[in-house]
Amino acid sequence: MKKILIINSSYRKKNTFIVLQNIKKVLLNYGYNIEVINLKDYKISSCHGCEYCIYKNKCNIDDDMEFLMTKLQECDGIIIGTPVYINNMSGILKTFLDRTCRWFHRPVLEGKPVILVATTAGSGLKNTFKSLNEGLVQWGVDVVSEVGRTISNLDKEIEKKEILPFIKHLNTDGMSYRVTMKQITTYQVQRALANNIFELDKNYWKEKQWIDKVYYRTKKVGVIGKITGSLLFNILVKNIKPVVDKRL
Ligand SMILES: Cc1cc2nc3c(=O)[nH]c(=O)nc-3n(C[C@H](O)[C@H](O)[C@H](O)COP(=O)(O)O)c2cc1C
Repeated sequence: MKKILIINSSYRKKNTFIVLQNIKKVLLNYGYNIEVINLKDYKISSCHGCEYCIYKNKCNIDDDMEFLMTKLQECDGIIIGTPVYINNMSGILKTFLDRTCRWFHRPVLEGKPVILVATTAGSGLKNTFKSLNEGLVQWGVDVVSEVGRTISNLDKEIEKKEILPFIKHLNTDGMSYRVTMKQITTYQVQRALANNIFELDKNYWKEKQWIDKVYYRTKKVGVIGKITGSLLFNILVKNIKPVVDKRL
């Protein structure tokens, strides 16, 4: 049975939680095993900025992040909900994302489908989704839909177009999903960095057999994507050089 992880990143179980519950109700009809977690129930400390996780692949902070990151790895699909705070995601969600920084170098969630959910009094949905997409593209996941609600239409039924791409993705193991140009270009940057900068990343990308590929799953990339991806990688690999941080 496919496992779905729903993450509520509001401190409250109110607007965002209601929309997440509405999505859960629809998904239960498909027989998935669904777990809902509220980030506020876990200890998630702010990133200390030491970059230890990037170099050593583990974090020095003793809190619930490793537990939560394992949960993300173990599920088949992810739904992330946030209230709009100052036209962006909630602070706790940003803190959570910061702490997954090592995945930006060495992705572990590639190919999992994701639905983004955001609720707002009125403004900021577009920016919140943009911000989340910018971050999550580096996890390697496939953001298949965005469900935005304002406080005046919280109870609006979940539309087919908001949920079906997720179900289709789960049922076809991602084969129904067409990789976007943004995903392809981000992948080239990560691939070139892995190739040129950190040995740990390079070994990981080689082990995963990604270092010579134009995307994690080459067969889902169209011809234009393949050509653009290869060209971009060749340019980046010639130009990206290690930068010495003179302050260290
Ligand atoms: C700190 C804070 C910042 C907010 N910022 C915005 C905002 O920028 N734009 C907006 O339209 N609503 C804003 N809101 C309203 C919330 O986005 C809205 O009420 C949301 O649905 C709350 O979700 P929740 O019930 O899941 O916590 C803000 C609320 C709070 C508490």
